[in-house]
Amino acid sequence: MTTALDPADEAFARDPYPFYAALRDRGPAARVALSNGTSAWLVTGYRQARAVLADPRFSNVPAPRSGPRRADGPAAGARAVLEQHMLNTDGAEHRRLRRLASVAFTPRRVDALTERIAGLTDTVLAELTARADGGAVVDLVDDFAFPLPVLVISEILGVPERDRLDLRTWTYRVGSPAGALAPGEIDLAWRNLHRYFARLIADKRRHPGEDLFSLLARDGDAEALDDTELLAMAFLLLFAGYETTMNLLASAALQLLGHPGELRAAQRDGDPGWAAVIEETLRHASPLEGTTWRCASETVDLGAGTAVPAGASVLVVLAAANRDPDVFTDPDAFRPGRYAPGSGRALPHLAFGHGPHVCLGARLARLEAMVALPRLFDALPDLRPAADPGTLPYRPGLLVRGPRTVPVRRA
Ligand code: HEM
Repeated sequence: MTTALDPADEAFARDPYPFYAALRDRGPAARVALSNGTSAWLVTGYRQARAVLADPRFSNVPAPRSGPRRADGPAAGARAVLEQHMLNTDGAEHRRLRRLASVAFTPRRVDALTERIAGLTDTVLAELTARADGGAVVDLVDDFAFPLPVLVISEILGVPERDRLDLRTWTYRVGSPAGALAPGEIDLAWRNLHRYFARLIADKRRHPGEDLFSLLARDGDAEALDDTELLAMAFLLLFAGYETTMNLLASAALQLLGHPGELRAAQRDGDPGWAAVIEETLRHASPLEGTTWRCASETVDLGAGTAVPAGASVLVVLAAANRDPDVFTDPDAFRPGRYAPGSGRALPHLAFGHGPHVCLGARLARLEAMVALPRLFDALPDLRPAADPGTLPYRPGLLVRGPRTVPVRRA
């Protein structure tokens, strides 16, 4: 049995959970016909998701593109470089790239960013507060959740302050849906990002700074990253790091606006309370709806009469696994208490993935949210939604999940 799915459908984007629940009832993986004419196997159960993500028979290396090649050109070239990052590799090659990148994400190095993240948050909040004063409607996505992670990644990449506005603009354009901008603008943004990172890398090689990216750019190790690998790494960190964290911040803020009791509890309980809000947001509104695509390198029997054929595309739907009723009591409810210290019952969510590709930036993402969310509600304690939360548009597609806008005003 195959079910049809249009990932761009607005109602599906806003609330995909009933669709996923129906798929989960069908077995360990279900075949879905996508509106672009391809088909995929979606894994929606918690235990099956963990099993697939840890199984080397599901490869991360993208299948060669069939059909006519896309037009060559600088923008296509920039995208081709992006595709060479570690999320698109398996086995020894993946371990090499990941090991080299890991030096920049040790707990000590990430935690050392706390004060800097606080400073960047205060800068973003100063602008937001100025705009919200006088009762104007502001957007917690465009004016808070988007700029902050881009600034933090800029810090990690060692992007000088004077260039950050450009980086923010190009990033915004590259991430915009096709048709949202004037023709050619997205391609131009790709080319600008590519050119900018190439220059930045040359600069880091010559004059390493204190930033984490300079650690990756250091020469001298026989296995060190070459220029193309570094370029792909910069892109990966930018895109793995900003859109996901943006969705975490936006979804957490949205949930807290709708659950003032939970907001008060977090403010009362301090760090453990905020940590519980963040874990529950990651579970309840998983910022990466699905992992990146896997490809079955052979036919894999997942049990219960389900065999995924060799060559099939497989998507592990983290958002669905995190609402598996066999694992989480009352899974559709937003209940930070399940992650409160001492509650001891909730299994870890899968929002950061599982297995060899489990998120390298999880500690950084949690730190950003731990710093930014309390500061937001301290600076603007009287924020109220300026639109019915049930009608907000969500980002389309199966990869990222989060509201496109969260309009608010001061009471
Ligand atoms: C709330 C924020 C975030 C979420 C929910 C998230 C989630 C994930 C998930 C699910 C994966 C695995 C994808 C797969 O298996 O296909 C992943 C991988 C990765 N993430 Fe994150 N991420 C977040 C923030 C970050 C940040 C801030 C960074 C770094 C700046 C980062 C860097 C990476 C990298 C480098 C990988 C690839 C790891 C590998 O292939 O071994 N992420 N992330």
